[in-house]
Amino acid sequence: MRKPFVIANWKINKNVDEALNFLDAILSQLPDSDRTEVGIAPQAFAIYPMVRSARKTDLQIIGQNAAEKCNGAYTGEISVRDLASMGVNYVMLGHAERRHYFKESNQSINRKILTALREGVKPIVCTNGERKNVGGDNVFSQLENVLAGVPAYQLANITLLFEPTAAIGAGNRANIETAERGCWLLRQEVRRKFGGEVAEHVRILYGGSVNPNNIGLIMAAPNVDGVLIGRASLDAGSFAQMMNYQQTTLSSVI
Ligand code: 13P
Repeated sequence: MRKPFVIANWKINKNVDEALNFLDAILSQLPDSDRTEVGIAPQAFAIYPMVRSARKTDLQIIGQNAAEKCNGAYTGEISVRDLASMGVNYVMLGHAERRHYFKESNQSINRKILTALREGVKPIVCTNGERKNVGGDNVFSQLENVLAGVPAYQLANITLLFEPTAAIGAGNRANIETAERGCWLLRQEVRRKFGGEVAEHVRILYGGSVNPNNIGLIMAAPNVDGVLIGRASLDAGSFAQMMNYQQTTLSSVI
């Protein structure tokens, strides 16, 4: 059984005070952690205060990025070893915006993934496809290249993300068929590369224009195990509603 994972990706929004106020507003509404895992990926400087504020809860505070190296002369980078030392369990690697604006390559993302796994931080590995060509070679070649050298057993520590580029932050509505098809294709690829057992267990998330109105339908898609939410996660009320989507979906059925 794959536990649903709902993640807020704040990108470069919210200062420390705003981040802590947001936590104050949502912590008492966290869903049962046996049913849903919830995470927030804030800016790097807000991670430590947020980890401290959320320490008595199951909320995951997640890194948006980390360096290939754990220490040394790499000005401006973020060490995954030091994320681990703060109690961070997950780090996003290879988000579409990292690839687009910062020219991150498959090879660099691959090295980051291997470093994170070595340091005991679980990578959320992002792959970006086109909306019209979900099954295009792009997603598959990204997956193939960024997972090079990753042994099958480590897939238990990896979460995959499918984000169709056109749906990210562009105001385009998410398309549920695209979400399901992208996640399904990724699962097929994992099956081909690592076997059926691994494919059955790996969590695959969807990202792009998720909001309180469409999360229920997106999460009902059989191959979508979670969502990465940008804009709609910035409002505490909206995020609280989305992290409790199971409750909302249930009460609308009853
Ligand atoms: P939006 O939810 O703002 O489209 O951002 C999503 C995202 O970054 C998915 O990877």
